[in-house]
Amino acid sequence: MQIRRSPLTPYPRGWFMVALSSELQPGDVKPLRYFGQELVLFRTQEGRAQLFDAYCQHLGAHLGHGGRVVGEHLQCPFHHWEYDCSGKCAKVPYADKIPPGARVRSWPVEEVNGMVLAWYHEAEGEPTWHVPSLSLGDEADWSPSAETRWKVRTCIQDVNENDLDSAHLRCLHQFTSKTPEEMELTMRDAALDIRFTLVSNLESFGMAGTAKGPIDTTKFGLGIGWVRYAAEIADAGITLGTRTLGATTPIDEDYVDIRLFHNIKKTQFDHVNETLEKQYFKTFKETVDQDIRIWENKRHLLRPNLCQEDGPIAAYRRWARQFYSAEEMERALAR
Ligand code: FES
Ligand SMILES: [Fe+2]
Repeated sequence: MQIRRSPLTPYPRGWFMVALSSELQPGDVKPLRYFGQELVLFRTQEGRAQLFDAYCQHLGAHLGHGGRVVGEHLQCPFHHWEYDCSGKCAKVPYADKIPPGARVRSWPVEEVNGMVLAWYHEAEGEPTWHVPSLSLGDEADWSPSAETRWKVRTCIQDVNENDLDSAHLRCLHQFTSKTPEEMELTMRDAALDIRFTLVSNLESFGMAGTAKGPIDTTKFGLGIGWVRYAAEIADAGITLGTRTLGATTPIDEDYVDIRLFHNIKKTQFDHVNETLEKQYFKTFKETVDQDIRIWENKRHLLRPNLCQEDGPIAAYRRWARQFYSAEEMERALAR
């Protein structure tokens, strides 16, 4: 029997990263596969990022393999039909009349925080919220972004839930954190707010001594989120500031694309900044590698058996429901 990794609908609604803005220059055309679909991402000569369903509606060529940007249009490699940014066929170079059904789906796209984000909705509904600007403040105070990326055989629910699972921080990662009673949870309106924030205290090891301080985990829907850590390393007299911006995008029902971008706040000691950067990067990577071993072999249980000390998993799940169609959620719960 084939085991479904998640009983929820395959993908939640929301904004998901499909590329970094810097990876898409004017004139670039890229084939992509996300949400179980073949897609094509391109940037027009004037600089607009667009995401289309991949298949040309003339005879089905993949627009991402050999397609070209022509001004503000995307040209199919097969018979050179051209699509405008709305996805409508605007030109057939050898015909006067354009077939009225010649249109490919153009996905809602926004660029924020250096990311190209695409809006997913299972019924192709329009965006109902937006990812805010997540500026670091004065960039000069921070190290440049360092990236780690994984293709992981898991579902997006489990990747997000990991950050709110306080017990596993101690058991799997050997961090120590305070009990859930001492955590602060912010959900201004659990039914409507796309932002979910948890602030708790964390002790971590291996970065020039024991680091102790508050860790802030914030999510903007299930695709984008950050982990910010402000800690004191008493032994070394260092105040540590870190931020990891995370983007998780479903590839299909079995795999997700995880991209993490790490920044370290520069300390007053120039000579330790590079070491701290390397150690943070390494610690985070090792931590995710430990998670991956669990994720790739687990199932998502809709009815887990939770105890008080498991942290805000139940609260997180109530919040996350808003990103699924209500009918699908009811169907999944009734199974
Ligand atoms: S298949 Fe695209 S123009 Fe013919
Ligand atoms: Fe983890």
